[in-house]
Amino acid sequence: MFTIRQVQSDDLFQIIDLASHVLTEKYTPQLFLYFYESFPWGFWVAEKNKQILGFIVGIRTSQRKGRVLMLGVHEKHRKKGIATLLLTQFLQESENRRIKYIHLEVTLSNKNAIEFYKKHHFTIIDHVPSFYQNGDDALIMQWTSFQS
Ligand SMILES: CC(C)(COP(=O)(O)OP(=O)(O)OC[C@H]1O[C@@H](n2cnc3c(N)ncnc32)[C@H](O)[C@@H]1OP(=O)(O)O)[C@@H](O)C(=O)NCCC(=O)NCCS
Repeated sequence: MFTIRQVQSDDLFQIIDLASHVLTEKYTPQLFLYFYESFPWGFWVAEKNKQILGFIVGIRTSQRKGRVLMLGVHEKHRKKGIATLLLTQFLQESENRRIKYIHLEVTLSNKNAIEFYKKHHFTIIDHVPSFYQNGDDALIMQWTSFQS
C-alpha cells in the first residue's frame, strides 16, 4: 500500500526525475524548490517504501482561486486511485483556505487526463489554441467548491 503525505525537501530529486518522465512540459529544478517553499500545503506525494509514485503541485493564485500546476503518477502505478487521492487532498486543502475555484490546463489530446478531471467535477471553460511550447491546444478546466 502507498501513503499520501505532504512533500519533504529530500523528495525533490525523485519528484523532478518522475516529472521528467510523466509530464510533457519541462520544468526547472528551481521551480520545484519554489513551489515547495511557497505552497507546501499544495504539494503532496504518494510514497511506498521511500519511492515516490506520484505527486501533485497546486498553488493559490488569488484570494479565492487556486491552480493545479502538475499532477503525475508513475506509469507502473496508474489506475490504483493515486491521482484521485492526491487531487482530493489538494481540493480539501484549498477548501480549508476558503479557495472557491481551482483551474488547470490540460493538453487537448490528453483524453485520459480530461476524463479523469471530469470525473472529479472539473468542467471545460475555455479552449486555447497553440497554448503549449509544441503548438498543442489547451483546455482550461475549472472546479468550483460548494462552500460559499
Ligand atoms: C492522469 C493521471 C494523473 C491519472 O493517474 P492515476 O493514478 O492513474 O488516476 P486514478 O487511478 O486515480 O484514476 C484513473 C482511473 O483509475 C481508476 N481507478 C481508481 N482506483 C482504482 C483501483 N483501485 N483499481 C482499478 N482502477 C482504479 C479510476 O476509476 C480511473 O478510471 P478510468 O479509466 O475510468 O478513468 C496519470 O494517468 C498520469 O500521470 N498521466 C500523465 C500525466 C498527466 O497527464 N497529468 C495530468 C495533466 S497535468
